[in-house]
Amino acid sequence: MTAMAARSLGYRVQVMDPDSSCPARFVVDACFEGSWNDARAAANLARGCDVVTLEIEQVAIECLEAAGRYAPVRPGAAMMRIIQDRILQKEWLRGCGFPVGEYRAVTSAQEMAEAISMLGGRCFIKSAHGGYDGRSQVKVGFGSTCDAVEAWTMLGQRPCVVEKALELDREISVMVARSPRGEVKSFPSAMNHHENQILVWSVIPSSVAPEIEAGAQRIAREIADGFQLEGLLAVEMFLTKSGELLVNELAPRPHNSYHASERACVTSQFEQAVRAVCNLPLGDVSIVQPAAIVNLLGDLWLDKEGQPREPRFDQALAVPGVRLHLYEKHQPRKGRKMGHLSGVGAIPAEAVERVLEAKARL
Ligand SMILES: Nc1ncnc2c1ncn2[C@@H]1O[C@H](COP(=O)(O)OP(=O)(O)OP(=O)(O)O)[C@@H](O)[C@H]1O
Ligand SMILES: [Mg+2]
Repeated sequence: MTAMAARSLGYRVQVMDPDSSCPARFVVDACFEGSWNDARAAANLARGCDVVTLEIEQVAIECLEAAGRYAPVRPGAAMMRIIQDRILQKEWLRGCGFPVGEYRAVTSAQEMAEAISMLGGRCFIKSAHGGYDGRSQVKVGFGSTCDAVEAWTMLGQRPCVVEKALELDREISVMVARSPRGEVKSFPSAMNHHENQILVWSVIPSSVAPEIEAGAQRIAREIADGFQLEGLLAVEMFLTKSGELLVNELAPRPHNSYHASERACVTSQFEQAVRAVCNLPLGDVSIVQPAAIVNLLGDLWLDKEGQPREPRFDQALAVPGVRLHLYEKHQPRKGRKMGHLSGVGAIPAEAVERVLEAKARL
């Protein structure tokens, strides 16, 4: 989606991906196959580029440095080093005075057990490296029998963050863009609904109270300035039942919770990403109309017996205001994001209703 936005702005695009038939393949000029720690592939990609950016935070620092010898890499390695590691990320946020939930960094099963009991028994445990869509995470104390020793083993016996489970009122995110010339623009916040730690639907604007919106905007902009961000940064936040606004985590790239910006805002997050890394003037982020997305997971491509089926797209597309966005992923797997439906409405709730209705028809 970023590549399509870049093409529309007149750029040539090449990508690097571990899978040579990756989704971007069909809209780019060249595709370099290489794993996220293949520094040679990264250098080959960067040679002949004017600027390099990324859409996944787990690209090895050596790759960013290798690419950086040929072209500026935005966001840069210094910021990525911190964001890639949940422990460093949380320490950075806390050290700068941003509000985060209670947590402990742990490096053994025993430390994990101590942290769980100090944090009250109900926790989210997340490995420091890797993981998205709830992968590399374990919940303890929610009626399951999983204890610290099991969690430590399940997460690969690697450093982890143990977070106190918070009572959430809702989840929001703010996408902020900052260009090398120091221009900053933050989109109105999105409201995000997760199930089983995976984003199900998201809507822009979030309709939180004006003082919460102002707080969320200030936090996102200050984080962007704190990192001297060049590119995009999604700041995921929790609004707790007691009214606290806490930073959950940072994603330095286009983010699933802003896919609806294509429909909701004057400028989409994808175009904004290109503008930011190419040092162009940032686009207007005002709302044109409320819009929502609902994710389409691989499960929809499998029937009750696990046999392949085609979702009934024609039925979904009959819902007013709804569009379909597929990612050209060839293997539908349970829990894998294959695409999304977007929809607009007169008010945010109507946009959400429409995408949920469309998804139900699939
Ligand atoms: N400490 C917590 N208290 C309550 N809920 C939590 C906590 N941590 C995570 N969650 C729930 O799990 C979801 C996923 O957590 P998180 O964002 O840390 O994981 P992730 O795997 O990086 O997800 P993604 O890549 O989809 O953003 C959160 O959006 C929230 O719904
Ligand atoms: Mg998250």
